[in-house]
Amino acid sequence: MRKNIVAGNWKMNTTVSEGVALAKEVSEAVKAANPKCEVVICTPFTHLCPVAGVIDTAVLGLGAENCADHEKGAYTGEVSAAMVASTGATHVILGHSERRQYYGETSETLREKVALALANGLTPIFCIGEVLAERENGTFNEVVAKQVEEGLFNLSAEDFGKIVLAYEPVWAIGTGKTATAEQAEDMHAWIRSVIAGKYGKEVAENTSILYGGSCKPSNAAELFAKPDVDGGLIGGAALKCADFMGIVNAF
Ligand code: 13P
Repeated sequence: MRKNIVAGNWKMNTTVSEGVALAKEVSEAVKAANPKCEVVICTPFTHLCPVAGVIDTAVLGLGAENCADHEKGAYTGEVSAAMVASTGATHVILGHSERRQYYGETSETLREKVALALANGLTPIFCIGEVLAERENGTFNEVVAKQVEEGLFNLSAEDFGKIVLAYEPVWAIGTGKTATAEQAEDMHAWIRSVIAGKYGKEVAENTSILYGGSCKPSNAAELFAKPDVDGGLIGGAALKCADFMGIVNAF
């Protein structure tokens, strides 16, 4: 069965001490709230070890925001999937639009990253989503289908079953402009149909598809009420415990 998940993406925010304090606060709040969804925080690489030491991993998952597309070796500045897993992290965000846009990540490199994440026991949170021009010219369904197909359809059904998808329309990220619940539902249902076409209905029904893009306590409940929206990938609102918990508690 697919899970409901709320995952925070801290992006390039907080120092180590600020991050450890926030993670501790979130862990305690999640423990007290006993939420109806899985909760994960994805932090900068530098924060993973100290954060792993202060959170209760029984109630709060920990993830990285990226990993390298090579196993190990002479790749100065990169952090491998094995290194991420060795911190105690269980998840890794891959293919975020900011990585695709600003760091030139392609489906080809993402296939390598996904394979290495899975080989190291990490759950990839694989991001897809169209830019504003593609929303406006009506090609958004094809664009997103292509991202899913090119990035993931080399996987066996068993491995595909380990992936969490996050639909993040680029025009809604950090802009305050959320996709309407109907736009999110239409896209999530479309993504599920694309998955069903490749792996069958059962795999598609069991895939968690999160929504991301200006998700906040005031709009989360409406988004999460849609049948194909299984939670959220949260940027800005994940940086304040009360806001993040407002979204977690929308389930
Ligand atoms: P915001 O919630 O800040 O719009 O960011 C969404 C996002 O990119 C999460 O990965």
